[in-house]
Amino acid sequence: MKIGVAKEIKSDEYRVALTPAGALELTRRGHDVFVESGAGDGSAFPDDAYANVGARVVSVEQVWSESELLLKVKEPVSEEYERLREGLVLFTYLHIAADEPLTRALLDSGITAVAYETVETDDRRLPLLAPMSEIAGRLAAQAGAYFLEKPLGGRGLLLGGVPGVAPGRVMVIGGGAVGYNAAIIAIGLGAQVTILERSIDRMRYLDEILSGRVSLVMSSSLQIAESIAGADVVIGAVLIPGALAPKLVTREMIREMKPGAVVVDVAIDQGGCFETSKPTTHSDPVYDVDGVTHYCVANMPGAVPITSTKALTNATLPYVEAIAEHGLGEAVARDRALARGVNVVDGKITYQAVAEAHDLDYASLEDVLPLAAV
Ligand SMILES: NC(=O)c1ccc[n+]([C@@H]2O[C@H](COP(=O)([O-])OP(=O)(O)OC[C@H]3O[C@@H](n4cnc5c(N)ncnc54)[C@H](O)[C@@H]3O)[C@@H](O)[C@H]2O)c1
Repeated sequence: MKIGVAKEIKSDEYRVALTPAGALELTRRGHDVFVESGAGDGSAFPDDAYANVGARVVSVEQVWSESELLLKVKEPVSEEYERLREGLVLFTYLHIAADEPLTRALLDSGITAVAYETVETDDRRLPLLAPMSEIAGRLAAQAGAYFLEKPLGGRGLLLGGVPGVAPGRVMVIGGGAVGYNAAIIAIGLGAQVTILERSIDRMRYLDEILSGRVSLVMSSSLQIAESIAGADVVIGAVLIPGALAPKLVTREMIREMKPGAVVVDVAIDQGGCFETSKPTTHSDPVYDVDGVTHYCVANMPGAVPITSTKALTNATLPYVEAIAEHGLGEAVARDRALARGVNVVDGKITYQAVAEAHDLDYASLEDVLPLAAV
C-alpha cells in the first residue's frame, strides 16, 4: 500500500504520525512510505532519518495525491480541505462531533476517515487516546509542582518537602488514565496525594496497584468542598464519555483555596471541571482567579512532542499495519475496535454520535464498506 505521512500545519502542533522506526516496519513489509518534507522536524526526526529506512521524502502535493492511506495527528484544518479526495483513507485524530465544517468537508470529498479517538475495544478501552492521557496526567503533576514556585506566582512550596518539612498536598479528581498518571508522578515527587473517584470498581483497582501510597476517597460535592481548602495542587481529570465535563469545582470553592495554590484542569478539552476554567495555550499557560493559579492547556502532550510522537505511533502502528496489509474493508472485518474508528465513508457518516451531533443521516458501516469475509 502507498502510505503517506503529512506534516502538521495546525499551530503549536509538533507531533508526526509515524516515526522512522515505524516507517521501517512498513517498508520492510513491502509498502511504499511517503513522508512530507519536514514532517518529523518538530519531533526531532529529520527527513534523512526517514530516507535512511527506505521512505520517500516528498512535497505536500505528492503526499496528499499519491497516498492510498494518509497518516496525520490532528484533524485537517481549513487550508487542507481542498486536498481531501475520494479513494483516500485518512487515519488521524478527528473529533468531528464538535466540528461541523470539517464533517461537511469530509462528506463532500468522498474520503474515508478513520478517527483515532473512536477506535474502541470490546471492553470499552480507547487504545489510541490512552497514551495522550498518560502523558497529560504526568505533565499535570509536573505543572502543578512548577507553578507552586514563588517567582511564578505560586505559594512558594516545594511539593515533596524535605526531611523535617511536610510535603505539599495534591488532590486528583478522577482516577482514570490521566488521574492515575498524575498521582504516580506526584507520589514520585514526594507529595501527599488524594484521589477522588466516583467508580467503586476503579477505586478497588487503584487500591490494589497503589495500596498505601495514596488516599482514595469517594467523590461528591461535599467531599470536594471539604478537601479543596487544604490542597496545594488540584488536578481535574474526570471524564464522562461523550459529554461535557461536569463542573465539580465551583467559584466559591476556588475562593476557599490557599493563596498561590494551583489548579490544573486537564479535562479542559471537554469544557473543564472547574467553573473558573478557560482554555490556555503553551505560550501563555496560566492565569489567576482569586489568587489561585489556573493551568488549562487544552493540548498538553504538544509540549513534549518527542515523547508524544513515540507514544502515539507505538499505539497506532498495529492498526496502520493491519490496514496496509489487508485493506480497510478486511481490516475492520477482522477487528471490531478498528471498525468503531470509521467515522466517514463515501459521503456517509458511519459513527452514530457524529450523525446525531450534526443531525445528519447515519449509515451502518456494514452497508457502506464492503467487508471482506475473514
Ligand atoms: N488537556 C489535555 O491535553 C488532555 C490530554 C489527554 C486527556 N485529556 C482529558 O482528560 C480527561 C480525563 O481523561 P482520562 O483518559 O483519564 O479518562 P478516563 O475515562 O480514563 O478517566 C476518567 C475518570 O473520571 C471518573 N469520574 C467521572 N465523574 C467523576 C466525578 N464526578 N468525580 C470523580 N471522578 C469522576 C471516572 O470514573 C473515570 O475513572 C478527559 O476529559 C480527557 O479528554 C486532556
